[in-house]
Amino acid sequence: MCGIVGYVGRKRAAPILLEGLKKLEYRGYDSAGIATLDEGKLHVVKRKGRVEELVSAAENLEGNIGIAHTRWATHGAPSERNAHPHSYGGVAVVHNGIIENAGELRAECEARGETFSSETDSEVIAHLIAAAFRGELLAAVREGTARLKGSYAIAVLCEGAGNVIAAAKRGSPLLVGKGGGSVLASDLPAAAAFAEKVYALKDGEFALLTEDDVRLFGGELKEIVRDPLKFDLKEEGAGKNGFSHYMRKEMAEIPVSIANSIVDLKAQSRFLAINIVLCQTYYIQIVACGTAYHSGVAAKAAIEALARVPVEVSVASEYRYRDPIVPKGTLVIAVSQSGETADTIAAAKLAKEKGATVLAVTNVAYSSLTEVADVCLLTHAGREIAVAATKSFMAQLAALYSIASALADIKGRSAPSLVSLPALAEDALARSERVKGWAQAIARSKSVYFIGRGFDYAAALEGSLKLKEVSYLPSEGYPAGELKHGTLALVGEHSPVIAIIGDEKVADKTMNAVFEVLSRGARVFLVTTVEGLGEGTLPKEDILTLPACEGVYSPLLTVIPLQMLAYETAVLFGLDPDKPRNLAKSVTVE
Ligand code: F6R
Repeated sequence: MCGIVGYVGRKRAAPILLEGLKKLEYRGYDSAGIATLDEGKLHVVKRKGRVEELVSAAENLEGNIGIAHTRWATHGAPSERNAHPHSYGGVAVVHNGIIENAGELRAECEARGETFSSETDSEVIAHLIAAAFRGELLAAVREGTARLKGSYAIAVLCEGAGNVIAAAKRGSPLLVGKGGGSVLASDLPAAAAFAEKVYALKDGEFALLTEDDVRLFGGELKEIVRDPLKFDLKEEGAGKNGFSHYMRKEMAEIPVSIANSIVDLKAQSRFLAINIVLCQTYYIQIVACGTAYHSGVAAKAAIEALARVPVEVSVASEYRYRDPIVPKGTLVIAVSQSGETADTIAAAKLAKEKGATVLAVTNVAYSSLTEVADVCLLTHAGREIAVAATKSFMAQLAALYSIASALADIKGRSAPSLVSLPALAEDALARSERVKGWAQAIARSKSVYFIGRGFDYAAALEGSLKLKEVSYLPSEGYPAGELKHGTLALVGEHSPVIAIIGDEKVADKTMNAVFEVLSRGARVFLVTTVEGLGEGTLPKEDILTLPACEGVYSPLLTVIPLQMLAYETAVLFGLDPDKPRNLAKSVTVE
């Protein structure tokens, strides 16, 4: 999390840096700051809150060279004091990542009389580089970063070093670019907005940016020659397209996102590498976090049902620390929208070390995860700006169902066709407008329970996460049959239950749970693909019937009204669903 950006060229740096920060704000938005060098002197401006707060404060900042940062707090509360850039001894630093030995290094600096002005782990980087600076900034950055444990992408300005920005990367993403000046940024769209040629730095590498050139260096500061990235950012439409929020606009893009992410892996030669891997697959482990984990839960159910290949699905942060057993021939599928989630990347690396083949399912080409993976299946959700994942979840499901279908074929089984799913999702989206009425009741509740069985359980988990994320209401997703083993104690008049039934085979069983909660006084809202279900039991307005769909693929439909419900509830509370408190889009720290 955190976004960093840098610019050196012939134009004033501040407007470019602010523009870059706005593009990176999805990575964190609790404070922001900017530093420029003007006539050799450092000028730093910082503000608590969103980038917008910084705009007027940085208006008069002069200088054609600068670095900037938008923060998601790890060490130290969100405040102006803890905002980046951090400066010491004429050195200013912006940092994305976590320095794990910051306490120890800070104590060393303090012992030699240096004072600190923040509680962050990042400030120590400025101290180390200032101590190492003897006229050559890159050498000082190398010496300073050699002491760091943890992850970092940093950009450094220094009085007395000339008009240069030095950068270093280990474990956090960093891209540099040139053309009309030189830039650096945490992601491709931000770098590509200001540069014609963009290069991705690898772990352990450094870069030196001047007005005319960008140079890349390896660990020993030996210069590296690298090809620029090939990219096409046409699909990166950034406007709200007439919607009040990105979240709602991105939901409107769900059908296209699904259509673009369904692939017939068996039919196209460009997927040969994936096919070869699938042909050798008898056991799968899926690793992911948050919403991507929920797509993994749905994929496990689908792959096991369709291909009869056993699948284990793990939260990546658990997987990486439990010394997982990875039998020979295991395929590990790492699912991540951003491709930058630290825990997912670490889990993928660990799986590789243990001999697994890693298949990345990600929305971002050239992300850190694609570097680690053996093979990659890109989802085509387009850029997702709202922090809460909506269309990218659907794209993940589409890609994972495509894998399930190909695997079923390889195993000599048949899987239902995926082709009608975008049209069904379009229909489901239109019908979901009705849940606006439900949001009134949800907003009055103390807590909300989402229940589902089998394929519907993944939908329940995701519906609950979405509601928590954007409306801040306590909520839980639960297997329908498990409710009576404890959680039922919490259900009552002020705790509505959302029942999800997309799989007709278990409809009666989940309806049993519905009766159980109804008789304890809870209001039940039913989301189902089964025509006529719930009628006579629930008021008509509490039932949302979606188009009929194969149960195995039904989370692609049933999650749509749940996303809508979360969105409408947040709007009702007057919250900004695009930027929920305490969260960030890309979780690049553990
Ligand atoms: C929820 C959400 C998060 C992410 C999680 C993993 O709406 O967006 O739970 O799903 O942080 O992110 P990626 O998919 O980028 O690895």
